[in-house]
Amino acid sequence: MAEVVIVRDAEEGGEVAAGLLARVVAADPEAVLGLATGSTPLTTWAALAARGLDLSRVRGFALDEYVGLPPGSPQSYRATVQRDIVEPLGLDPERVRVPGDDGPLEGAGERYEAAIRSAGGVDLQVLGIGTTGHIGFNEPGSSLASRTRVKTLTEQTRRDNARFFGSADEVPRHCLTQGLGTIRDARRLVLLAWGAGKAEAIAGAVEGAVTASCPGSAIQLHPEVTVVVDEQAAAGLRYADYYRHAWRHRHELG
Ligand code: PGA
Repeated sequence: MAEVVIVRDAEEGGEVAAGLLARVVAADPEAVLGLATGSTPLTTWAALAARGLDLSRVRGFALDEYVGLPPGSPQSYRATVQRDIVEPLGLDPERVRVPGDDGPLEGAGERYEAAIRSAGGVDLQVLGIGTTGHIGFNEPGSSLASRTRVKTLTEQTRRDNARFFGSADEVPRHCLTQGLGTIRDARRLVLLAWGAGKAEAIAGAVEGAVTASCPGSAIQLHPEVTVVVDEQAAAGLRYADYYRHAWRHRHELG
């Protein structure tokens, strides 16, 4: 079962997640991190940056990218990763990959999979979750075994992401995303969520049936998962009291 950490707010959650990332990098300065964009992980990147670690040898693979934006678009995840992650953390941009950044769309998924494999796999994958239950851009119906590929975004996700664009109409319809099988291959997963809008998706992902209808539920198939949620995002969790109890007593096993 996933370890579920219920925190006060996104700042405290960012500290918890940054602690996990820092531990991975301390063990291996060339660790491979799975990078998530979106607003949820921003407090994690800020908390990690504040630790002042040398992250210049870390390697990174983004979860997903829009298809069809003009090159250099500020809304692209290439640009977002550069702005929100590479620069504040002092990563080497040459060591950070985003799906589709190495050539034509055709074959991009296979090339990305090969690049992750040749880096030795992802040590720790950071994840947000969409209101549709997506992780990466794996919308409902995504195979639990899927690999990096082109997907069509749901209209709900396009509306959710309209805030980064002028309007929902400007949000691309397609994306490249790591698959649920790709994500499950990472050695450790950290799933973050803040706010009441994520409560249903978190309840489905953590305690619902494992089903392609809630892609986030694929985390239940992974043996090393930490879910960090604030009280609002935890509101639909049936076993919240147990998770709090387990977290309070976590040090007793040494
Ligand atoms: P958000 O997106 O962090 O901007 O809420 C999460 C997601 O869509 O995975």
